[in-house]
Amino acid sequence: MNTKYIDLVNQTFDFPQPEFKLENKTLEFHDVNLMQLVEQYGAPLKFTYLPQISNNINRAKQWFADAIEKNNYKGKYNYCYCTKSSHFKHVLDEALKNNIHIETSSAFDIDIVERLKAEGKITNDTFVISNGFKRAQYVTNIARLINNGHKNAIPIIDNYEEIELLSAEINGKFNVGIRIASEEEPKFEFYTSRLGIGYKNIVPFYKNQIQNNENVELKMLHFFINTGIRDNAYYWNELSKCLKVYTSLKKICPSLDSLNIGGGFPIKNSLAFDFDYAYMVDEIVNQIKLVCEEEGVDVPHIFTEFGSFTVGESGGAIYEILYQKQQNDREKWNMINSSFITTLPDTWAINKRFIMLPINRWHDSYERVLLGGLTCDSDDYYNSEQHMNAIYLPKYNKDKPLYIGFFNTGAYQETIGGFGGLQHCLIPSPKHILIDKDDEGNITTKLFNEQQKSEDLLKILGYENNMETSEPTSKILETSLNTQ
Ligand SMILES: Cc1ncc(COP(=O)(O)O)c(C=O)c1O
Repeated sequence: MNTKYIDLVNQTFDFPQPEFKLENKTLEFHDVNLMQLVEQYGAPLKFTYLPQISNNINRAKQWFADAIEKNNYKGKYNYCYCTKSSHFKHVLDEALKNNIHIETSSAFDIDIVERLKAEGKITNDTFVISNGFKRAQYVTNIARLINNGHKNAIPIIDNYEEIELLSAEINGKFNVGIRIASEEEPKFEFYTSRLGIGYKNIVPFYKNQIQNNENVELKMLHFFINTGIRDNAYYWNELSKCLKVYTSLKKICPSLDSLNIGGGFPIKNSLAFDFDYAYMVDEIVNQIKLVCEEEGVDVPHIFTEFGSFTVGESGGAIYEILYQKQQNDREKWNMINSSFITTLPDTWAINKRFIMLPINRWHDSYERVLLGGLTCDSDDYYNSEQHMNAIYLPKYNKDKPLYIGFFNTGAYQETIGGFGGLQHCLIPSPKHILIDKDDEGNITTKLFNEQQKSEDLLKILGYENNMETSEPTSKILETSLNTQ
């Protein structure tokens, strides 16, 4: 009888897969020996496998290049990276090796753009697409970027006041885009997204605020659906509505020449993941061309702003199973030596599923378990796996440590979890390792950040390390009274 974990995987999925294989009975991810990583750095740990960022950017560029050629499409394609999915310098440095552009979402993002410009990684030719609701500091920073000569900056107008706010700070002419507020999926709580301007209001808005404004030129229509790019009726219907707006606007606005279809490319979240990217890209390009032909307008340049797709598949987390608690005859809780809520917050907040696999003991028999985190919050668990919500892992054995990995976790988890900040129940954030390949193709690893220490957390909480140097309570009280 086949009762080993490896048999279970072989019966359920195609295995090995391009990025996952077994070598000496332990798991490798893109040829990185994960057991060695654990032996060198200890678990829990998080890692970023940098080459996957460039791999994915180039895969997407190729799909668009193929679709443009096949459809004899006259516009260009521009790949932008949505920085909010991971702002880390190592991520931007890797992404920007591939001649791409940037999408920003808040004021401090522009400071990052300026830092990267100072290093020569971004130039005035790089498109900087600025989305988001623009408050004073964001407007000021965008204006500074444009006033300093960044001709390819395109703020995307999200509300009716932004043109006026930007005009007050930008010297001379500038380009803008307009974001369409998409209609949400029928099962969603709201009808229309709060982001952007409603379909019906876009042409009137253009006529009122842009058409006769000498300083503002409309270049781009922006369209992003929350649920992402999917081959379903909802997506195609929304795209078609967006294209109607594009062609109506184009007829009265000759400067409009770009369509931004946002982010939302899915990433692999299970070994059974199946998404035909090339077909989707081909169909999107084809649809845009058809509608433009029907309406007799030139096709737009196409922009995307992939966040998860750029960086998601570069990240992973490895935990050790510390202990097993059998709470009744059916429920066995494998306790990890960290927390899901803080290290993979999307598993808790939006029930997001990631690929989960053991790192070692694939040739041992398996059992059905639940995974629990270390915080004393009853929601700190993970149980969403492919098929029936069940998780199978090699049987717990206190004498044979078991390590498990979560893969493709590189987008959003650090910023939502508050990297380096306070953590629920003060369970420290794990160390973070950067993995790269050198010029000869050898794998290199580097510690990016140590596991948080007690001092780090206590300092944030206001407990000084050295009582003698800390400010006397009376002084603090005095200052707080004076500011009231
Ligand atoms: C305007 C905009 N563009 C791009 C993205 C990136 O989406 P994803 O990470 O799904 O590619 C987002 C995500 O929320 C967004 O709001």
